[in-house]
Amino acid sequence: MFKWDDKYSVGIQTIDEQHKEIFRILDKLYSLLKAGKLECLLKEIIPELENYTIFHFQREEFYFHKFSYIDSDKHIAEHQNFIIKMKEMKSDIEMGRISLGFDLMLYLKTWIDHHILVIDKKYVESLKDKIKE
Ligand SMILES: [Fe+2]
Repeated sequence: MFKWDDKYSVGIQTIDEQHKEIFRILDKLYSLLKAGKLECLLKEIIPELENYTIFHFQREEFYFHKFSYIDSDKHIAEHQNFIIKMKEMKSDIEMGRISLGFDLMLYLKTWIDHHILVIDKKYVESLKDKIKE
């Protein structure tokens, strides 16, 4: 479901590594949700997803500020939207609204595809030579 493919590469190694990790966590989330292993999902995987995506968004936003990326406001608003949907998914699962949680997980998948392939790729030209770590 959340399989990494080279088409997602933005050509900046550190960002690609972080995106791969997000795919890995989402894939685990998907499997556990399908298998109905909700306790593990709520105790381990969703917190892992929250922590890691927030860390990743903060890294990107740090670079936007540091290198005065022109389109940062719109980009940051998209990150906020992901965080809101992720929290909604968590509370749906907590409340036992599994099919709503599942729909939101599919939404996150669509969001990620569009975000990496379109939105993230927009900053590559201006940032790829500046991000060294
Ligand atoms: Fe982003």
